[in-house]
Amino acid sequence: MTDILAPLKAASTTLTSPVVVALDNTSLDAALALADKLHPTLCRLKVGKELFTRSGPAIVQALQKRGFEVFLDLKFHDIPNTTAQAVMAAADLGVWMVNVHASCGYDAMALAKQRLVEGGYDTLLIAVTVLTSMNQQNLAQIGVNNELETQVSRLAQLTQKAGLDGVVCSAQEAKRLKTLCGDDFKLITPGIRLPEDNSDDQQRICTPKQALQDGADYLVIGRSITNSPDPTTKLQTILRSIDI
Ligand code: C5P
Repeated sequence: MTDILAPLKAASTTLTSPVVVALDNTSLDAALALADKLHPTLCRLKVGKELFTRSGPAIVQALQKRGFEVFLDLKFHDIPNTTAQAVMAAADLGVWMVNVHASCGYDAMALAKQRLVEGGYDTLLIAVTVLTSMNQQNLAQIGVNNELETQVSRLAQLTQKAGLDGVVCSAQEAKRLKTLCGDDFKLITPGIRLPEDNSDDQQRICTPKQALQDGADYLVIGRSITNSPDPTTKLQTILRSIDI
């Protein structure tokens, strides 16, 4: 059978593809069946709270065995020692990237990064600033009276000061955060859709090309690929749209 991805597999490496496919709402078997339609030279994979809580480290190991780099999206938020040790446990699993909530504070973020560095791990550590599901009213309800944009900037700068590698942000925030935090600070953006895609529950969507132009380093893409009748071709179409 002809492998329609063969030219892309030959031409691409994990270093050039910015796509991170989100394996959401799925069991271990379904996640692996989907992973088998993708290829580790064309994308990385994101394992989130639901899949990890159902399947545990076994899912991470099974994906790694297939050659995929894994973003473990567990958004740790706890006291400094617990946060740092959870990050270390993720690094021990050999994940490519893991994250915490920036609102767990400077001390927790800095300690987690310090332990990774001391342990000689190259796992990237990033933070979530303000969840994109939160609006100004939700922030006020938890006692944050800053403008949402100001709060995002503040937490991104705190994340950078603590030595982390970047933040998750919406593509709409990418330009501003790139200017504020500089080129080396990684921006990971969800809410990515091709023009012909369903926006699902995402309020503010952006095309892969626009997100990269605005400064995104990695694109987290879920349902456009995972709900597609042909995830292989969909990933290929997305990569072509960004000239990969
Ligand atoms: O299916 P879709 O492409 O919308 O999936 C986006 C992924 O990014 C999901 O795993 C979602 O939980 C995650 N995410 C998000 N918005 C954030 C942070 C993470 O959509 N602010």
